[in-house]
Amino acid sequence: MKNITKIQLGENGPFVSKLGLGCMRMSSIWGGSTPDQTESIATIHEALDCGINFLNTGDFYGAGHNELLIGKAIKERRYDAFISVKFGAIFHNGQPLGMDLRPIAIKNFINYSLTRLGMDTIDLYQPSRMDNSVPVEDIIGTVADLIKEGKVRYIGVSEITADQLRKANSIHPISALEIGYSLADRQIESDLLPVAKELGIGVVAFANTAEGLLTGEMTAPLPANDYRNNFSRFQGKNLVHNLRKVEVLKQLASKKGCTPTQVAIAWVRKQGDHIMPLVSMSRRSRLPENLAALDIIFTPEELNTLNTTFAPGAILGGTYLQR
Ligand SMILES: NC(=O)c1ccc[n+]([C@@H]2O[C@H](COP(=O)([O-])OP(=O)(O)OC[C@H]3O[C@@H](n4cnc5c(N)ncnc54)[C@H](OP(=O)(O)O)[C@@H]3O)[C@@H](O)[C@H]2O)c1
Repeated sequence: MKNITKIQLGENGPFVSKLGLGCMRMSSIWGGSTPDQTESIATIHEALDCGINFLNTGDFYGAGHNELLIGKAIKERRYDAFISVKFGAIFHNGQPLGMDLRPIAIKNFINYSLTRLGMDTIDLYQPSRMDNSVPVEDIIGTVADLIKEGKVRYIGVSEITADQLRKANSIHPISALEIGYSLADRQIESDLLPVAKELGIGVVAFANTAEGLLTGEMTAPLPANDYRNNFSRFQGKNLVHNLRKVEVLKQLASKKGCTPTQVAIAWVRKQGDHIMPLVSMSRRSRLPENLAALDIIFTPEELNTLNTTFAPGAILGGTYLQR
């Protein structure tokens, strides 16, 4: 296993790889097809060989398919991997119905996840959103009880407000905040990120490419069957405007001899020692490029160009967090 920069999740939390492997797109989401399972498992193995030990899943990704896949992949390598699982989102026929974070439901979910993953303890267990019908005390308190039972090691949260984060952390130390963050989604810089830093909580930042917008490979309009057509930043004039911004990113990347995706990941990494880019990869060919992004250094001028071109609000249409 190679050495890779580490990040500590929470003040007394575990050290994990500074780049996380998002496994969501290894299962069918938004009604799409399931990617090649052999390649997905090979990607997990190669990521582990490269020192990427943080694997991210949710019990609702592919209705359990994702956990079964990860369980299969790490069967012989449990201790090479740090497994982060989200729970609580309820889906029917691939459509989200809401959240169920009643203590009785959480105690049920965990056992199914452990069985699918084939393990005794989940490293990081996190409600995927909050459930307004259940007090934060009860949600976090129930996961804290699972720690006492030995079924969970650390608590994380996801897509939460700054106030909820403070509240959650006052009930039990929160190790990680999983949140959408990229050049195209910077709204959390004004409240959530400073609170996470103040409380010593690690930030697991996903959607670094803003679902492909920042890869430089997107063209307008998207194919009619593309799920992103549902979101206003990928529609009509908004998309044309947003892709003009991406041209600046493409030019900057080209001058630096790297790819737009690498710049997008490197910019997230640069935002703080406590921030980890969590990137979806379902094929091995992505790994060298995305790992190399950890070594990219920006000049002050380059950072200024990125920060002004992608100032909060520069990308038109709804943000990731507004969904
Ligand atoms: N907490 C939450 O609410 C939440 C929500 C969404 C996602 N997540 C987690 O965060 C992870 C990342 O989120 P995401 O998938 O939305 O965003 P992302 O990491 O930006 O990935 C989006 C797409 O970028 C592609 N990609 C990766 N590397 C690339 C490269 N070098 N060049 C071009 N394209 C590249 C991936 O394609 P391939 O698959 O083809 O490699 C993927 O389809 C997920 O896997 C999941 O674990 C959490």
